[in-house]
Amino acid sequence: MKNYLFNGKSFKSACLSLLTANILFASPIVASEAQKGNEIYEINCQGCHMADGKGDQDMGMYPALSNNIKLSSASITTQIVTNGLNGMPAFREYLDDGEILEVVNYVRANFGNNFKDIARLSDIPK
Ligand code: HEC
Repeated sequence: MKNYLFNGKSFKSACLSLLTANILFASPIVASEAQKGNEIYEINCQGCHMADGKGDQDMGMYPALSNNIKLSSASITTQIVTNGLNGMPAFREYLDDGEILEVVNYVRANFGNNFKDIARLSDIPK
């Protein structure tokens, strides 16, 4: 049998190191999604809702997203982010559907929120 070499390693040992890397960095796909929601938040939301999700506590203009029961509905949260609400800008023109869902799922699973269900494409208002 031909012996394939990857970076000077045999195929078998290259596979073994990939496997080890996967175990060390458990589930790279989930990690990159979390990173993305986090990045979208930093760029688009943090300016008002703050890095810790606590909003501006002094002026009371921007509500806290942390420990916020209003985020319990995935579809209402998705609607607010998509279409805006009073002083909350509509993100429909700045983010695509996938990015809206990522940031909604990010805020609903962070800042002390622990809602287990996720927002889906069908939650985005037409
Ligand atoms: C320009 C400031 C601003 C930015 C940027 C902003 N928001 Fe808001 N957000 C608000 C304001 C003001 C409200 C309150 C709206 C109301 O209830 O009248 C709000 C409300 C919300 C609510 C409902 C919570 C509640 O208690 O009413 C959610 C969820 C939310 N924002 C998520 C986000 C996300 C996610 C982003 C980034 C994609 C974002 N916001 C960006 C200002 C902002």
